[in-house]
Amino acid sequence: MMRPMRLGGKELLFGRGTLAHLADVKARKAVVVIGGDALVKTGLLDKALAYLDASGVEHATFNGVEPEPGLATVRKGASFMCEHEPDLIVALGGGSVMDAAKAMWIFYENPEIEGLEALQDKEKFPKLRKKARMVCIPTTAGTGSEVSRSIVIKDDETGIKHGIGNMEMMPDIAICDPETTLTLPPRLTAETGMDALTHALEALVSNRANMLSDLLAEKAFVDGFHALPKACTDPENLDYREKMLNASLLAGMAFTNVSLGIVHAVAHSLGSIFDLQHGLTNAVLLPYAVSFNKKDQHAAKIYERLEKQLGKDNLAKALIDLNLEVDIPLSLSRLVPDRESFLANLDRLIDLSLQDGCMKTNPVIPGASALSDFIMRAYDGPERL
Ligand SMILES: [Fe+2]
Repeated sequence: MMRPMRLGGKELLFGRGTLAHLADVKARKAVVVIGGDALVKTGLLDKALAYLDASGVEHATFNGVEPEPGLATVRKGASFMCEHEPDLIVALGGGSVMDAAKAMWIFYENPEIEGLEALQDKEKFPKLRKKARMVCIPTTAGTGSEVSRSIVIKDDETGIKHGIGNMEMMPDIAICDPETTLTLPPRLTAETGMDALTHALEALVSNRANMLSDLLAEKAFVDGFHALPKACTDPENLDYREKMLNASLLAGMAFTNVSLGIVHAVAHSLGSIFDLQHGLTNAVLLPYAVSFNKKDQHAAKIYERLEKQLGKDNLAKALIDLNLEVDIPLSLSRLVPDRESFLANLDRLIDLSLQDGCMKTNPVIPGASALSDFIMRAYDGPERL
């Protein structure tokens, strides 16, 4: 049966100059969460703080969310919030910053919660908004965390990345201003952009997909496919930045409702074991997933429809070419060159991937040996596509 759709929180802003909306957000005190000094250097933090100043909102900044954030950082941020008692949390950054800020929000509002395990039980998920509302302002075009119910947080002891999803974590306000992504370097533009394309393509073939998620995801995929190489080679062109940020937003709206598939399931597990970047791992796996999922007739039809729209005859191959164009490696062996170590971890990788929630909505649910074959094809490279 269809699940209720939810497209973002209370307010959704997108387009050039929308960062100024921050001056209209009513609050007493804000904690602004950022990743590091990059936003200080580019002046983006000051710009955001000036909007808060303009509306008389006091503010304190938590600076220091690492890529692929861990629970220790989340706890640090939550203590910072307990000290400053904000009624508004502003996450200004990429997916890691937004995910970490959402997690800090949970522990700030519910300091009695001990660890990430307590958040896995959907029925007992803690209530938010007793103390603060959340604004997300993405500075990368990829994760869609600004309109998603999900976070990925690493357990610092085991290295396992926990994906946690609950509509309670849907940010109240999303501000998607392409000007905030202008300074993103080509490498991150490519990796985060491929994450957005992966969200779109996995949502399209998800076994929970519906009419509305299809509309959003298809537009996201086609626009993103065309715009990504241009955003990498012409980074200061606001048109391409806007196309990518909107594609990320649309893909986020789609996947948060209908979930993802084999690429995310395996990428989460690879990330946990080998500490790889999320977008990069997705990008490498995506073409192989198209070949793998083609066995499903419905998925094959969707891929054919996309091939027609893009003017390509083979979507998997077109994605290999796209990776090549945006300078992304074509095989997992480039990310984990030590084959022996990769093989030694293969069983664990398969176990973790089969347990991952994203696998449930893949159009083809693999057994261990089919999954092993999929992973090894992606390890070996395009000649085994
Ligand atoms: Fe993702």
